[in-house]
Amino acid sequence: MTACDSQKSGDASMNKFIDKLMDRMTLEEKIGQLNLPSSGDITTGQARSNNIADKIRAGAVGGLFNIKGVEKIQEVQRIAVEESRLKIPLLFGMDVIHGYETVFPIPLGMAATWDMKAIEQSARIAAIEASADGICWTFSPMVDISRDPRWGRVSEGSGEDPFLGGEIAKAMVYGYQGKGDSAYREKTNIMACVKHYALYGAAEAGLDYNTTDMSRIRMFNEYMYPYQAAVDAGAGSVMSSFNEVDGIPATANKWLITDVLRKQWGFGGFVVTDYTGIMEMVNHGIGDMREVSARALSAGVDMDMVSEGYLSTLQQSLKEGKITEKEIDQACRRILEAKYKLGLFDNPYKYCDTERAKTDIYTDEHRSIARRISAESFVLLKNDKQTLPIKKKGKIAVVGPLANTSSNMPGTWSVAVNMEAPATLVEGLKEVAGDKVEIVYAKGSHLMSDAAYEERATLFGRTLYRDKEKRSDIQMLNEALNVAHGADVVVAALGESSEMSGESSSRTDLNIPDVQKTLLEELVKTGKPVVLVLFTGRPLTLTWEDKNVSAILNVWFGGTEAAYAIGDVLFGNVNPGGKLPVTFPQNVGQIPLFYNHKNTGRPLAEGGWFEKFRANYLDVTNEPLYPFGYGLSYAQFDYSDVRLSTDQIDRNGMLTASVTVTNNSECDGDEIVQLYIRDLVGSVTRPVKELKGFEKVTIRAGESKDISFKITPEMLKFYNSDIQFVNEVGEFEVMIGTNSRDVKKATFSLK
Ligand code: BGC
Repeated sequence: MTACDSQKSGDASMNKFIDKLMDRMTLEEKIGQLNLPSSGDITTGQARSNNIADKIRAGAVGGLFNIKGVEKIQEVQRIAVEESRLKIPLLFGMDVIHGYETVFPIPLGMAATWDMKAIEQSARIAAIEASADGICWTFSPMVDISRDPRWGRVSEGSGEDPFLGGEIAKAMVYGYQGKGDSAYREKTNIMACVKHYALYGAAEAGLDYNTTDMSRIRMFNEYMYPYQAAVDAGAGSVMSSFNEVDGIPATANKWLITDVLRKQWGFGGFVVTDYTGIMEMVNHGIGDMREVSARALSAGVDMDMVSEGYLSTLQQSLKEGKITEKEIDQACRRILEAKYKLGLFDNPYKYCDTERAKTDIYTDEHRSIARRISAESFVLLKNDKQTLPIKKKGKIAVVGPLANTSSNMPGTWSVAVNMEAPATLVEGLKEVAGDKVEIVYAKGSHLMSDAAYEERATLFGRTLYRDKEKRSDIQMLNEALNVAHGADVVVAALGESSEMSGESSSRTDLNIPDVQKTLLEELVKTGKPVVLVLFTGRPLTLTWEDKNVSAILNVWFGGTEAAYAIGDVLFGNVNPGGKLPVTFPQNVGQIPLFYNHKNTGRPLAEGGWFEKFRANYLDVTNEPLYPFGYGLSYAQFDYSDVRLSTDQIDRNGMLTASVTVTNNSECDGDEIVQLYIRDLVGSVTRPVKELKGFEKVTIRAGESKDISFKITPEMLKFYNSDIQFVNEVGEFEVMIGTNSRDVKKATFSLK
């Protein structure tokens, strides 16, 4: 038996139920289960289905997505279970990406917490709220590794590291679905969909939807693990990606979907395309609608999101012998199994409890958890002369086009949020500062000087910064400088608008936009301490800011409670402890820049500068501005040397690597202790370091803590040139530190 014979696996009563149901289904009804139109409420592409209600009655729809509101969903489900011949309930999906109405930080920000419990809890709360509003399926987690911050969707994933990404993928799946046998038991558990399988984050030039091409060895060592980890955690569905893999679009790639995902990894759920993924293969140039639909089905794709290629062509392809009835049956069965596991055949209205919709969404409890987690996601990039925390007294100038907007706070893919709900930064700071502080606000600039660019960067109707603005650039700047001159500290709220990252938001220039940068330069010239509160969905190039601004707090997009959380950190109620899950380059020309690169035959000495005929640039060092894993604290953590329990193990052995971390400061703080390993000699070239473990600890002022990591031979495995997952004997370097650059080292060998 193979894992792709899903009818033979799993639960006997489910199989019996589905066998009986499928015996009664016509070919049209089976194909209907494979059809996933968009409701039209929220769309990301062009195509939409017409006459959805009629199609549901005719049994031509398997699920719908992005409808908001339990009553609407209940009504559509009613049509399915009362007015269609076989009364098969529908799946209701949505992009619940980082929360529902209570919104958590964007995924890249969540990754910066390195806190798996918090990440799982955020997904759990998202599931509780979404399920209370009729949703049983989320298109999350997004686990695409990306090393290219030009790609706007870097904001939706966990950054550049496969190990961290894999840990997060598991935590998200557990949060949504529950674990193991208990998955979907509760009516608050929803089905996860791992996306975008595969390699979507490796789009050439960071251009969204662009071609990807890489060797299998890189694919398996550096990109695949998070998808596999999510599958191992039990994810019920997988979304195929828009891009090609090895010259074949993922959605028609049998090797990817059947051989790797199902046979090698044992995935037993269903595969859905991305939005119009089938239709787009016509543009990719691998055939007409009939051809690409047939290829998708044969590759192992079960559900067609929006294209309606399956609905309109599979019958004909069957007649022509391009596909088999078995392939249709298998896909249909997988969709029915998901519905069965979710409990929809027992109760199609399981997720339509209108009472829960009133009590379980955007609750005080959820919001206070979101506030805590939001603060945890912030990364302190610079803090010269202890500019932060700001004392709760005197006058603070809060300046910038992002300081007084609600709708910019939640971040990209906040589909279900009420855009008016979040406090603005000014409101949040006033609330946290209390009445001993005077807060004065000035906008200071537009988002950017080019109005047309600004419009593109605020599409989706979120924040139209220019709309009501009557003042000229110079008037806005002068007003801000006046306010700054009269203040003790300036808080500059600058960076990207929320829609400058996310889908279809690639950028080639990663500076803070022009007019905002001018504003910042002028604020610095006032001589006042300037705290840059940086909103961003991706690494930006901050070389000037790092040199000239007193303090930089990267707050990503922190969700509905971000404004209060920023206040908590700026005023020192919370000590920031987030660490970067992605490298911040010095400039765009260094991209792709990532910590786990190879050594090359002509490496530059660590920390070195230009040497002729070495791997380096003429104009800039090889170093990032801020390395992977970097982030400061109001506390000061010092690391001892690394202690190893032994310097030699065999394949059944294990060793412990420990350090003592001391908090040499007067405030308590969280530190994320990171373990990296380098395989010094391999049958294939190996990275200069790879993250293999981390631990987040709270260390009180003056206290020392011993942190230990177990190192097992399993952790030393990698894919060799035959794509076998092996370990090889030899020497290894262990590195432990506060980020990927500043580490203490020791060596051991595997015999
Ligand atoms: C995105 C997916 C998303 C889907 C449905 C697509 O454009 O790539 O991430 O889940 O739309 O909204």
